[in-house]
Formats: sequence, C-alpha cells, structure tokens
Amino acid sequence: MDGRLQVFTGTSHPRLADDIMAELGTPLGRALVGKWKNGETRVKLDENVRGSDVFVIQSMCDPVDHHLMELLLIIDAARRASAARITAVIPYYAYAKQEKKTSGREPIAAKLVANLIGAAGADRVLTVDLHAPAIEGFFDIPVDHLRATPLLARHCNRSCPESIVAVSPDAGGVARAEEFRVRTGSSLAIISKRHPGPDVTETLEMVGDVAGKTAIIVDDMISTAGTLATAAELLRERGAEQIIAAATHGVFAANALDLIDRSPIDRVFATDTIPLPPDGPRDKIEMITVAPLLAEAIMRIHKDLSISALFT
Ligand code: R5P
Repeated sequence: MDGRLQVFTGTSHPRLADDIMAELGTPLGRALVGKWKNGETRVKLDENVRGSDVFVIQSMCDPVDHHLMELLLIIDAARRASAARITAVIPYYAYAKQEKKTSGREPIAAKLVANLIGAAGADRVLTVDLHAPAIEGFFDIPVDHLRATPLLARHCNRSCPESIVAVSPDAGGVARAEEFRVRTGSSLAIISKRHPGPDVTETLEMVGDVAGKTAIIVDDMISTAGTLATAAELLRERGAEQIIAAATHGVFAANALDLIDRSPIDRVFATDTIPLPPDGPRDKIEMITVAPLLAEAIMRIHKDLSISALFT
C-alpha cells in the first residue's frame, strides 16, 4: 500500500484510540464528529485524505446505533474525499448475537450491519472476537478477525494460581475455552445452559471436575452478566475454590457490575474493546488492553504484511 497512513476515530472510545495512536507513534487525524441541532450525526474530516490508507477506529458500544452511524459517516466522508483504501477498525462488533433468526419475522441484524459498512465504502474490516466467527462471511470485503484469547491466557499465566480449570459457560464456547485450556495448561469443564426468556440464563448441568480448583469461565462477552453469575453459582456448589471470568468484550449492560459484585465471582479479566461504564462497582475488574494488538494489525495491514503472526 503506497498511500500514507491516516487514522480517524468517532466518539465511542477515545482512550483506546489514543492508546493505539501512542503505539503507532503518530497523531490521530483531525475531524469534527458531533451532532447537528436536529439530532443528526455530523462529520467532517479536517485533513486531506486523497490517496491515503485510511483507518477508522470505532467500537460499537452503547449508544450502539449512534456509534454505528458515526462509523458509517466517517467512512462515507473518507470515500467521497478519495481515500485510496478504508479499513473499519471495529474492536467490538455489536448486533453479533442477532446473527440468525430464532423465530419467524425477525431480522438478521449482524448481516444488515455488515451490508451497511460495505455500502458506506469500507474496503476492509479489522475486528476482535466476533460473537460467531461465521459473521466474517457476512461481509463481501476482507475481514481480519483477531482473537483476544492469547492476551487473556497470558494475563492468567502471570496472575492465576497453579491448579486451574477452563470452563465454557455454554456449548457454543467450547472451542474458545479449549484454546484457553491449551494456552494455560489447565483442564476443561463445560456447562450446559439455556435461555428460558430474553436475557434470562439457566444452567442445566456441568461436565468436568472443579472441586478445590480455580475455575476460569471463558466467554466472548459479558453483557447482563447473567451467564457468568449462574455459572459461578454452579461452580461454587461444585466446590471451586476461586472463580474468575475471562471475557473479550466487557459490555457490562444494565446492572451487570452490581450483579458481578454480589456473585461468587472473585475476579474478572476483560479487554478494553469497550470502555468500562462510568458507574458501578469495579473492584473485581482487571482490564487488559488490546491497543498494542490493534496497532500491530493496523501497521501490518498498511504494509501489506501477514497478520497470522499475531495469533501466536
Ligand atoms: C452467549 O452465547 C455468549 O457467548 C455470552 O455467554 C453471552 O452473550 C453473555 O451474555 P450475558 O452476560 O447477558 O449473559
């Protein structure tokens, strides 16, 4: 890629954008990202991007639709200003749990959002731990899909006690927990869960031995924390000595931080793909930054280098 590297961001996660830029050793592109008096999102790039390799960093955290709109408008502005290539850097891709219909007359929101990003003019997407890996196929443009398990496992290897068991809180997360198990040299347990209603979680049974061990619940996201809290109750019942949660995306929706505080969970490892909510108890939360990982990926994409090395 010959064009110069230029990075812009919306308002979703300024600290992460600053940390990525510190790693890259270059300043953020100047842009106005705000609102018109009528409530519409307003964007104006204050730098020439003609022929540039443009990256737009925007996490789709709450308010999700507003941050998505900012992302779309920044991409559109860069395309209309003749950027040579535009990469949407989306640390957290929202709507990912709506990746299929669960009953009739529902949308497939994850696909619609992928269409919108492509239609706005993105040439590539760089993201972290999509809720369902198949979402990569919803895009008709290349997607570089980074995984945070190596970061979370490294943090655990440095700070967890010896005898640990990686726990998948549901059948869908077994591959992720298995990778964590391999990277931490632990054993594996699997919980079976079901959702009797929207945002309601019930654990059914568990396979694996956790008695006297430190159980690490490995998940892609913590939203209401219902999954974690019910899994933690079961693990405590089965004799786990310490209970830790390790998740890529700390959405911490509604009263999740309070629920975690009241639960038997001792520690939570989450990456900073989403900013921590300003309110709520956070003593148990340990944040691990993805800034160096994203900065390295941006540099490698810019130089047309492979990013497979980032998976080791
Ligand atoms: C489910 O399939 C996911 O992997 C997470 O377990 C789930 O999204 C967490 O949501 P919540 O915190 O609301 O239980």
